[in-house]
Amino acid sequence: MGCPAFNTIRRLLSCPDCQLIKQCAFHFNSDSNFPILVDMFTLAHFSDPHLALHQAPSWTQLLNKRITGYINLRRNREHIHQDWALDLLLQDLKTRKPDHIALTGDLVNLSLPSEFARTRAWLPEVGRPDQVSVIPGNHDTYVRVSEATGIGQWADYMTGDMADRGTPSNIPGFPYLRVRGDVGILGISSAITTRPFMATGKVGNAQMSAVGRILTSMKKQGLFRVILVHHPVITDQAKRHKRLVDGDKLLALVARVGAELILHGHNHTDTLAWCPTPSGRAPVIGVPSASSIDKEGRPPAQYNLYGIARDGDEWRIDMVSRRLKPKIRMFKTIRRINLVPGSVDPGSVDQGLRDLDISIGEQDRDTGDHSENE
Ligand SMILES: [Fe+2]
Ligand SMILES: [Fe+2]
Repeated sequence: MGCPAFNTIRRLLSCPDCQLIKQCAFHFNSDSNFPILVDMFTLAHFSDPHLALHQAPSWTQLLNKRITGYINLRRNREHIHQDWALDLLLQDLKTRKPDHIALTGDLVNLSLPSEFARTRAWLPEVGRPDQVSVIPGNHDTYVRVSEATGIGQWADYMTGDMADRGTPSNIPGFPYLRVRGDVGILGISSAITTRPFMATGKVGNAQMSAVGRILTSMKKQGLFRVILVHHPVITDQAKRHKRLVDGDKLLALVARVGAELILHGHNHTDTLAWCPTPSGRAPVIGVPSASSIDKEGRPPAQYNLYGIARDGDEWRIDMVSRRLKPKIRMFKTIRRINLVPGSVDPGSVDQGLRDLDISIGEQDRDTGDHSENE
């Protein structure tokens, strides 16, 4: 798609390492004379860091759903998720100097007060609140805790700037909208507290209604619309006890009002699917856990970079995936893909959705049940 000459020049000027033109601009930095053809906004996405417990819970803190989660954590999860992998990911991501960072939930494991205190201290290592947009995952609402001792501690990373844009919202907290240049980031919460062995999510009718209004308003403002949601919106991408229970409603809403990019976590896998929009289709992309070290059949830590730019009347997305190579403890580029939202005739979207609901690059299959792990 787009002009062939433009694409050729783009390829020639792409960085051989990170593959993005903007990344070259980053490498040579803004005071260099390196020619930048495209005013590209770069969004980085990582998810599910599941920061390790640094303090064992008390017995009284385990007298609820946490007991099964704690046993699972000690037996399995603490061998899969390692803070050194997360540290390396952040180190690598920062060298790319993205314009903004999206973090799609599951920062903690058991929703312990000590975990929230630790993540509150860790978030500034990711970036300033205005540079980083966070949404919660199911592990961040693992049991009911007060907002003040729970996710409320991340409030400045989950606050929208809708008032400045006049976009409506009557939901305290979620959804929130942040506008950065031509890119609008819409943070949705699918995090709900569930009974043991369940990891489902729900957007809810009130939030869904606000999402529809805000997406419509964003379209009128000519924004590139990014949706952040922890659970995969395509419900058959997750097992029944881990699915987004109203994912079909959210997909129907996007089919009606549109979006350009949907980012999620939860599955701890590397996936690209497509969902219908009024103008064709939009990519739906999941990313492995940011602290995974390639155990139990799960892919190692990864983050994705999205170079977003206008190309005539279309939007273009240059997607680059950077993945941990655990043996050498380094991140490497594993793929670059050019995505064009809305690039399929709406009449063929249903077929396209089925055909394109696939993993990309190195196949990373969910090889086990993993209980309520995600
Ligand atoms: Fe999750
Ligand atoms: Fe997770």
